[in-house]
Amino acid sequence: MSVELAERYLMQTGRRLPVTFVRGRGCLLYDDAGRAYLDLVAGIAVNLLGHAHPDVVAAVSRQAAELIHTSNLYLTRPQIELARRLVELSFPSRVFFCNSGAEANEAAIKLARKWGTKNRAGAFEIIATTGSFHGRTLATVTAGGQHKYSDPFRPLPDGFVHVAYNDAAAIEQATTDKTVAVLLEPVMGEIGVIPAAPGYLQRVREWCDSKDLLLILDEVQTGMGRTGRWFAHQHAGITPDVMTLAKGLGAGVPIGACLANPRADVFEPGDHGSTFGGNPLACAVAATVLEVIERDGLVGHAAEMGELLHASLQDLGAKQTRGLGLMQAFEFEEPKAKLFQQGCLDSGLIVNAVDDHSVRLVPPLVISATEIDHAHETMRKVAR
Ligand SMILES: Cc1ncc(COP(=O)(O)O)c(C=O)c1O
Repeated sequence: MSVELAERYLMQTGRRLPVTFVRGRGCLLYDDAGRAYLDLVAGIAVNLLGHAHPDVVAAVSRQAAELIHTSNLYLTRPQIELARRLVELSFPSRVFFCNSGAEANEAAIKLARKWGTKNRAGAFEIIATTGSFHGRTLATVTAGGQHKYSDPFRPLPDGFVHVAYNDAAAIEQATTDKTVAVLLEPVMGEIGVIPAAPGYLQRVREWCDSKDLLLILDEVQTGMGRTGRWFAHQHAGITPDVMTLAKGLGAGVPIGACLANPRADVFEPGDHGSTFGGNPLACAVAATVLEVIERDGLVGHAAEMGELLHASLQDLGAKQTRGLGLMQAFEFEEPKAKLFQQGCLDSGLIVNAVDDHSVRLVPPLVISATEIDHAHETMRKVAR
């Protein structure tokens, strides 16, 4: 397809690379000329099982042949089963299903505000961190501390305060009577993979407990095994009050989730909803994704492959490499990340330049050591 046609018919909300993918298998994508590319981006941390995974294909067609959608006016089995499995894997909680990460965070924000109304005399302010990313709705661009995403849409909703990431003291200082919650990514993804410093999440958890605040963790990008644990907060040995998920949960089929522990779970009938959220198709596929991750030991595999990938980034001439599990990034001194991304694409490798300096790698969890070696070889040649 031509770039001209895309420009004519699609709103130009982002710049697309001039390549048209038509199919995929495992960690490979194929363009419309039949050329193969090794995919280290996985639809931005989405395709956990790679492309066209047979179990996902079977789950989609099996459920599509049974029941795709009923609305949330009725009970459906896949939704309840998926909620049960998510709660078993994370912490005692209940689940609200939606369709994306932004919606999962909207739900968390509304939950926090209602909780503040009920329990904290109307406290409503949420402390978030500069450089974070929580989605593109009006509330979530405001929650994410990046002006480039929110400034064009002023006036913005009230009630969000931003402090530096990895600075627990700044959260403590920013807390007032109006504060109701702290909202964090356990590894900041979109800004270029910045993991929580040792002790940060634990100290924030303790602060939230001592001041009666909710801790909301946005695990939209980090969840479902990507960092080498089912959820990134498990590395820190803490649990949040509220956790949001999306991206990898459906491995490509859109689904989001907001989990809340009994303390935070204050939604009542009529408070929130979504027509498509938690429909049988998305939930049946997500349940299969969880089953395959477990059956094939992909959480441990992600930890192992993450170490291999991280080690392979050391000789690319980057000034810094960082990451957790299969969520890795490196930063060049010079502003050459976009050029590097294009060079890799030309050489059949998909990487993601998050800005002029940093490159993010979030491959499928099923990536093999051989594929990482191959990617390393290509990246070394391109970086030269
Ligand atoms: C941490 C985090 N939260 C939320 C979102 C928004 O998710 P979605 O694009 O599905 O709305 C993203 C997307 O990149 C993300 O990385």
